[in-house]
Amino acid sequence: MRTIRAAIIGTGFIGPAHVEAARRLGGVQFVALAEAGRELAEAKAGALGIPRACGDYREVLADPGIEVVHNCTPNHLHFEVNRAILRAGKHVISEKPLAMSSSETRALVAEARKAGVLAAVDFNYRFYPLVQEMRAQAGDGRLGRLYLAQGSYLQDWLYLETDYNWRLEPRLGGSPRAVGDIGSHWFDLFRHVTGEEIAEVSADFSTVHGFRRRPRKAAETFAGRRLKPADFERVRIETEDCATVQFRTASGVPGALVVSQVSAGRKNRLYLELSGAKSALWWDQERPNELTVGRREKANELIIKDPALLSPAAAAFAHYPGGHPEGYPDGLKNLCAEFYARVRDQKLRRAPAVHATFADGHRELAICEAVAESARRRAWVKVRG
Ligand SMILES: NC(=O)c1ccc[n+]([C@@H]2O[C@H](COP(=O)([O-])OP(=O)(O)OC[C@H]3O[C@@H](n4cnc5c(N)ncnc54)[C@H](O)[C@@H]3O)[C@@H](O)[C@H]2O)c1
Repeated sequence: MRTIRAAIIGTGFIGPAHVEAARRLGGVQFVALAEAGRELAEAKAGALGIPRACGDYREVLADPGIEVVHNCTPNHLHFEVNRAILRAGKHVISEKPLAMSSSETRALVAEARKAGVLAAVDFNYRFYPLVQEMRAQAGDGRLGRLYLAQGSYLQDWLYLETDYNWRLEPRLGGSPRAVGDIGSHWFDLFRHVTGEEIAEVSADFSTVHGFRRRPRKAAETFAGRRLKPADFERVRIETEDCATVQFRTASGVPGALVVSQVSAGRKNRLYLELSGAKSALWWDQERPNELTVGRREKANELIIKDPALLSPAAAAFAHYPGGHPEGYPDGLKNLCAEFYARVRDQKLRRAPAVHATFADGHRELAICEAVAESARRRAWVKVRG
């Protein structure tokens, strides 16, 4: 197997997860890392065992030996960094959101087409085996005509007014915030599993903490709770902590989503439930190895992840036998497995990708913008683009 040389830009919370996931495949060698400044880059490169540390991401892109670049920077840098990666002619796995606005994402879709490289967005939840089982059952008729879709994405890491992160600042994280940060995952999952397109939305936003206490020194994601009260300053919050969103798909399916980053005890509860004419399906990311098939005429069925018992299309995403759980790091590994296989073998690129493309990333921004406009105008809004 040919070894592919890769680089990582941004190594806070999710960057190291990308490095670990791709390394677990074999045949991928991280040869360079870029961070916000040389000192940080050197510390991170040392910790991750990556030989070259760059204080400016453009140094990475100038290396002709690097084929794949993972963009794991904060949201406000995605457009600039993704465009530079594409213009350097390298394949890219970008973190979500693809950029900060749909005009930026539209430009990136065009840039990716022009560059002729592979361009993915890390909507990693697609890659859980039981999400693929849901997709198989929705796609082959076992679910039946979709009557209703609903679910939620609930977290508690921004529950306290002392919880702080760059995502809370619109110029760095974008707006909408909770909807853009995690609601976007739910919309992507729903679109991927059902093939439905969200056509119009009606949303209501709430900001629970109108003011928060910001650490005087920036902290990495999920690191804020180690700070002391004297380390904070008071700042106004302009983006939503929670949102409720109703929607209709292009084919007329109704749906509803609840998004929150202030729900105590809910750590990363991404939940999707589909009610169909022949059955129902529900799945919870915090119990990723279980999928329930709901039935009216007989007992419900609990599917436990086991490659021997899944639909063939889903079994390929499970790598351990039944009773051996697979979860978050494995989803990202599956994404990397598909992506790097397509980098290695041009023939594989003829089949549609399971991973989210830049076009999906663009659609996601269009949905989030419609949701924000709806909350602002207190009206139903059509998704454009
Ligand atoms: N798909 C997922 O499940 C998932 C999960 C978490 C985060 N994310 C996304 O990943 C991105 C990063 O989030 P995070 O939680 O890791 O944030 P983070 O703040 O923990 O890490 C961001 C890193 O980028 C670095 N950085 C900042 N400016 C840089 C620059 N100019 N060049 C290089 N590096 C720079 C920071 O120093 C930091 O190490 C976000 O866009 C977020 O939406 C996705």
